[in-house]
Amino acid sequence: MSKIKEEYSITNVLLFKNLLWMKEYAFRMQNWLRGKKMPPVRIDAELHRRCNLNCIMCSRRASSKDLTEESKKIELDKEKWIQIAKESGELGVRSWNIAGISEPMCKPDLLLSVMETLKAYDIFGELTTNGTLWTEEAIKRTIRMNWDSICISIDAPNAELHDFLVDGKGAFSKAIRTIKLFNEYRKKFLSKNPSITINFVINKLNYEKLPEMVLLAKELGAEALFAEPMVVYTEEGEKLRLNKEEIKKLPTIIKKTRELAKQYNILATITCLDPDKKFQGELIQKTSDIREVLIKDAKKNKKGILRIPCYYPWFYLMIRADGSAVHCGEYTEGEESISNKTLSEVWYGEKFNRIREQFSKNLPAYCKMCRPNVIGDMRMIRRGIKLYGNIDYLHQKIYDLFLENKELKEQLFMAKNGGGVEDCKNKMCDHERELVKIKSSFPYKFTKKISDQALKTKLGKVIKRVSSR
Ligand SMILES: C[S@@+](CC[C@H](N)C(=O)[O-])C[C@H]1O[C@@H](n2cnc3c(N)ncnc32)[C@H](O)[C@@H]1O
Ligand code: SF4
Repeated sequence: MSKIKEEYSITNVLLFKNLLWMKEYAFRMQNWLRGKKMPPVRIDAELHRRCNLNCIMCSRRASSKDLTEESKKIELDKEKWIQIAKESGELGVRSWNIAGISEPMCKPDLLLSVMETLKAYDIFGELTTNGTLWTEEAIKRTIRMNWDSICISIDAPNAELHDFLVDGKGAFSKAIRTIKLFNEYRKKFLSKNPSITINFVINKLNYEKLPEMVLLAKELGAEALFAEPMVVYTEEGEKLRLNKEEIKKLPTIIKKTRELAKQYNILATITCLDPDKKFQGELIQKTSDIREVLIKDAKKNKKGILRIPCYYPWFYLMIRADGSAVHCGEYTEGEESISNKTLSEVWYGEKFNRIREQFSKNLPAYCKMCRPNVIGDMRMIRRGIKLYGNIDYLHQKIYDLFLENKELKEQLFMAKNGGGVEDCKNKMCDHERELVKIKSSFPYKFTKKISDQALKTKLGKVIKRVSSR
């Protein structure tokens, strides 16, 4: 029973990321390093740079200009965005995240048209919004197109603090209404999608409210809570940074948050937690210097591919409002532009290739401003490369899957016919017989034996490498 509970708290986003991305990233990285070009796995798109709020911690505040007005001068038109969305589908891009320093719903027609194009190609879609501009019609359209994930930013469990942090009176009640409507229409349309995540930026005014955010998520019918430490962009942001004493209190607060999340089946992701769930004060303190942590992580490995601190240039593309196309949100040097080019021309072009070459040697200085969640992403990809480049592990996986398949078939057979297990065993298909042969075959046993010795002998290493091709 407890197992079912645990599984239930896995949202579609986490399933997609864990089951598919990990393999996909590992697979594509290995192909790249063998000289085979691969399309991006994920595109982040900033459709424009308009926003209706003015949050205290947001990087928009670091700009001296009115970004909404500036946006109107530089935006790509709707046709261009639709063309990029279509090309993504044709190339094999797996996922789009509509993001950037803007509120996507400031241009609802553009947003919903792009989303519908992406879903027509079965691309996994994520979107982050402040939740204040959604109409009932837009919510229904989003559910009907089967959009996968909506993250709604709420920085406090009450109107007073949230409205203060986002500098917008009434913002809290509008965002809450949006979540409630999404939930109501999901039920009405019998749809699990989109999954709803509450995004929470941890700062000194709200860090103690983290457990209450779980209760709010539960009350509103959200599936997940995503909390990450604030990145400091401005002096106002600096005033919100947690001090040492406050950081010391965090592990207890996080523990309570996780316990509540477990109790209520809310998936709580807190990015200052290691995958092994240990609190990492290092990440909170270094929210403006993630580069060091990425390099340190990579250096723990011996194998070339695993020693690359960041894989973004090989799987990720961010397209900004003005058409600039970069491998990272922090990159500002010699950008590529998609305004007059196709997606393939940009991704496989000279500028991106040069960046990939640079990243295989060293991590540039601008990575100092990287976001904490990238550390977790890189660790996940590295785990994928280790697992899916391991022939023994894959053999074992095939065998386990075969066993699971066989057991399920036996159960199905018994449920249908009321017969015994033996009757069912005789119904093994040719394909299954093939799989049994794998385990008892000479090449399998041979590579298994050799690979057990692989770290000890030079010949073992060579044979293992050949057999894994
Ligand atoms: C920049 S906003 C854009 C989308 C939308 N306007 C919104 O607020 O959700 C994307 C996410 O970044 C978060 N964010 C804003 N300022 C941040 C900061 N200084 N550090 C970390 N995350 C931040 C927001 O709370 C939001 O969840
Ligand atoms: S709503 Fe989003 S983009 Fe707008 S100011 Fe707030 S965090 Fe920044």
